[in-house]
Amino acid sequence: LPVRLSDYAAPDWRVSSVEMEVDLDIASSRIRTRLTVHGDGQRPLRLDGEDLELLELKLDGETLDKDRYRQHDDALEVDGVRDGSVVETLVRVKPAENTKLEGLYLSGSSEAGFLLTQCEAEGFRRITFFPDRPDVLATYTVTLRANRARFPVLLAGGNPDGAGELEDGRHWARFVDPHPKPSYLFALVAGRLEKISRDYRTADGRDVTLNLWAEADAIDQCGYAMDALERSMRWDEETYGRNYDLDVFHVVATHDFNMGAMENKGLNIFNAKYLLATPDMSTDSEYQHVEAVVAHEYFHNWSGNRVTCRDWFQLSLKEGLTVFREQSFSADMNSPSIKRIEDVSLLRRAQFTEDAGPLAHPVRPSEYREINNFYTATVYEKGSELVRMIAGRLGAERFRKGMDLYFDRHDGEAATIEDFLAALGEANRMDLTPYLAWYGQAGTPRLRALGEYDASQRRYTLTLHQRTPATPGQPHKHPVPIPVRMALFDRGGHMLPLHLRDEEGVPSRECVLELDGAEKQFVFENVPEAPIPSLLRGFSAPVVLEHDYVPEDLATLLRADPDGFNRWAAGQQLSGRAFDAMLGGETSSAALQAWCDALCGLFEDADIDPALLAELLMPTSEIELAERIEQDVDPEAVHAARESLLDHLARRIGGERLEDRYDALQSVASDDLDPVSQAHRRLKKTILRLLFCVRPDAALRRAEALLAQTGNMTDRLLALHTLLQGPHADAAAAAFRERHHTQPLAMDKWFAVQAQIPGTETLQRVETLLDDSAFTLRNPNRVNALLGSFSRANPTGFHRADGAGYRFLTAKLAEIDALNPQVAARLANAFNGWRRLEPVRREAAHEALASLASEHALSRDLADIVQRALEG
Ligand code: ARG
Ligand code: ZN
Repeated sequence: LPVRLSDYAAPDWRVSSVEMEVDLDIASSRIRTRLTVHGDGQRPLRLDGEDLELLELKLDGETLDKDRYRQHDDALEVDGVRDGSVVETLVRVKPAENTKLEGLYLSGSSEAGFLLTQCEAEGFRRITFFPDRPDVLATYTVTLRANRARFPVLLAGGNPDGAGELEDGRHWARFVDPHPKPSYLFALVAGRLEKISRDYRTADGRDVTLNLWAEADAIDQCGYAMDALERSMRWDEETYGRNYDLDVFHVVATHDFNMGAMENKGLNIFNAKYLLATPDMSTDSEYQHVEAVVAHEYFHNWSGNRVTCRDWFQLSLKEGLTVFREQSFSADMNSPSIKRIEDVSLLRRAQFTEDAGPLAHPVRPSEYREINNFYTATVYEKGSELVRMIAGRLGAERFRKGMDLYFDRHDGEAATIEDFLAALGEANRMDLTPYLAWYGQAGTPRLRALGEYDASQRRYTLTLHQRTPATPGQPHKHPVPIPVRMALFDRGGHMLPLHLRDEEGVPSRECVLELDGAEKQFVFENVPEAPIPSLLRGFSAPVVLEHDYVPEDLATLLRADPDGFNRWAAGQQLSGRAFDAMLGGETSSAALQAWCDALCGLFEDADIDPALLAELLMPTSEIELAERIEQDVDPEAVHAARESLLDHLARRIGGERLEDRYDALQSVASDDLDPVSQAHRRLKKTILRLLFCVRPDAALRRAEALLAQTGNMTDRLLALHTLLQGPHADAAAAAFRERHHTQPLAMDKWFAVQAQIPGTETLQRVETLLDDSAFTLRNPNRVNALLGSFSRANPTGFHRADGAGYRFLTAKLAEIDALNPQVAARLANAFNGWRRLEPVRREAAHEALASLASEHALSRDLADIVQRALEG
């Protein structure tokens, strides 16, 4: 049965303090837990527990007979508990057999690996019996014991509180966390780990030791993350006035992790791919991800830990807010417009597609069967857009004031999204409750804009209209408040002053229109000519904009809008229009001409940022383009039409100019990470892509040369990616493998880049790669690299018309599900859009999904995704 938001009830029993004694070993670990509990004693104490072997149970010091408690599959019920009672359990768990990577598990091999935990959302119940819900906050004292030679490092969240020797070569260490926290923030780590350390003094004067931990072969890859951590801590002090609150902050890297990283109090645990970075092994974008994820997890210390969530429906309260904080930080550290382009493009690729398919759900869902399936682009990325919208509505100063109130008022508490909006509103005497509508409604609003110019009155009237398409279970939608940041341009590409009717004061060049109902008109006076509206600047709301621009107007914005993001947005719209025409058989549409002309001009523009140019030159992704098609999507046709856009653009610029520009960039290339070198690499990649369209041999020659010369992974991967489409693909792949076979993170890219080769042949390559000695279904990164890339990032490979891609994936899903349900469930999202495929593929996908559901006993995680995909 699903869990429902409307069924929320405060816990019967609370826990004030938790004392744990953990005897760690690989095959079997024992956990003794003493809970001091509080409640009115009306109901039995119910503790969650899963895969636990109960060895002892005591109530207030007395061992309980079997008739005083009941043990269920997923819980323990104890009678006779009173307010202030101490409940003590002793359980045994088997870390090495825990392939779900949830609870206490082993990373790496039994001989060399280490033990660690992952609790969010409901993994603590796989470690000990506990009321495992986020509104039960307690202080924790944790004592770890283990063999010193095998587990020289023992870590848990909180401040260190003693350590020492025991008999038989064992040792112990104790940690006290004085900040009350929910169980999902508990963590421990034990094993052979190395560290790098740095002293840090917070703005409010606390001396903190920062420790980054990794296995010996990777400890020299943590330097970049340490710098990023320090930058994050300073930024949160300066931007939000938030300081760190323990004496020590640990971050640990593991190669075996279901998600990106985890913000456990005082002991963050990271998927190695978001912590380790070296030029030889990591791409530029991976460096940026490391910086962003380090910041994200650190920022959770306030947005998530000090103020946590009342229940899992409020997940976006911490995730949406923290993504927003992380995105703002990254924008401050790097180029803001490039960052915005990347974020919006991710939102459109991942969240808009989710919102348009069977798994569509609100940022605050109203029910779930498996909470792990709600760590989604909607909760994270759309959630961040909602915070951004509200922050924009308030303005920087008032937003800060509201955040101060939110953190102060709810410090040490488990809060709701209403609490968040109330704090932001009350601090500024504003009513933000209309924004709550965004949190409860799934689907991406369509914003239609209609402009009318009256030359005799010099008046421009803009009519804004909104409509949200129905989503599964939500047939009727309501209007939501939509802030539309906008400007008007003349035909020459200059911004016009805005005289909004009824508005006093000096005209500005940019304004924000609030659409607060289904439709509204805005009138601009003194407009000298029929203007070109630049709408939704900076992507001021997560909506799809519909406006009948003539292609030339979009080209003007693409050429002349001083805002880099909006320039890109105009280009994306224009390439979308060119795509529509191409798909309809129109090979030389006005949109295509306008797009090529504008970009050809920008290609020669000496002043444009090369990183921005690289983004402008790329048409919208195949995934987004497919979203433009209502029904009967043929991924082959989408691919072909997009290729043809690239082809036209490449011809319009010309092979010669592409070669010259590439060579000029390559002649000044360095492996450095400075912004200019990164921008050059970004542009090189785009140019090589275009060059491959018109002069494939010239592109392949350059890729060969690049592979031989470069010392950085961005270039090396670009070279490999290019060569994989030429006659020497296998040699190039073998050479890369030879060079990087000892580096797991590089090998993931090796699997991923091959899985992404377009075309029907790739399935066979992927099947062969399954047998590579470096492949394993047990490692989430490896599975995502090969199978995730194939099914999510290779439309022509996965969506074979014969359905072989679908059958291949469902067979693997069944195998993976038996090991790790979370990984299987995430992978199954590849079937999201099956209903909109053309009939042959639709039938094949449906059949594969249906037999997966009927022929296997699926985990709750995977069953939930498959069922919703089939029903929605
Ligand atoms: N809270 C983590 C983050 O920073 C994500 C952990 C999710 N884990 C899970 N198994 N659902 O975003
Ligand atoms: Zn997070």
